[in-house]
Amino acid sequence: MSPALKSGIIGPMESNSGAVSELFFNPRHVGEAGEPRFIGRSGSFQCGAILRVSLHIDEAQRITEAKFKAAGCSVLVAAASLLIDNVIGKTTGEAAAVAQHLDHLAEELGTLPAERNECVLLACEALVSAIRNYSDSARDEWEGDEALICTCFCVSERTIEREIQENALRTIAQVTAACSAGGGCRSCYPLIEDILEEVNGKW
Ligand code: FES
Repeated sequence: MSPALKSGIIGPMESNSGAVSELFFNPRHVGEAGEPRFIGRSGSFQCGAILRVSLHIDEAQRITEAKFKAAGCSVLVAAASLLIDNVIGKTTGEAAAVAQHLDHLAEELGTLPAERNECVLLACEALVSAIRNYSDSARDEWEGDEALICTCFCVSERTIEREIQENALRTIAQVTAACSAGGGCRSCYPLIEDILEEVNGKW
């Protein structure tokens, strides 16, 4: 029996690349991160797969532990294992950026049928969801002098306002290019939108 099945991961074994087979039979990071942990979930109505990612994040915003539990196919298990390999030790902003590059992850898994990119996407969605939960919590608990807007890149409200005013910014993409705010998990998007509206006074 695959260690994945022993660990509570269930799913059909399909014809896949060598990398996928290896990670399915020898999955890494299965289980639950230590407390305090931040949870993210994803699922597919199409195939019924579900994935749960838990993260332990230190005071420097680095992911020190990440684990997953999955009920899905071998590609989902392999993608979650590989993605977590790639984000441990990274800051939340860096990890969210990794999750936005699905192509890199898919390439590392080898040649996959096009429809299996959905499985890779599910792994990335669960990770980003966990990072968003962390970001929302860290923002709520922030006690600095300036309101913190983007937790992923430690960007304050005042910095964003200044960038918008000085550079006549109109979109979130422009704000991200100017000061990185919004370049990670994107949980700060609604807040950046509010600041754009307020500063520009016409949305
Ligand atoms: S809080 Fe994650 S991108 Fe801003």
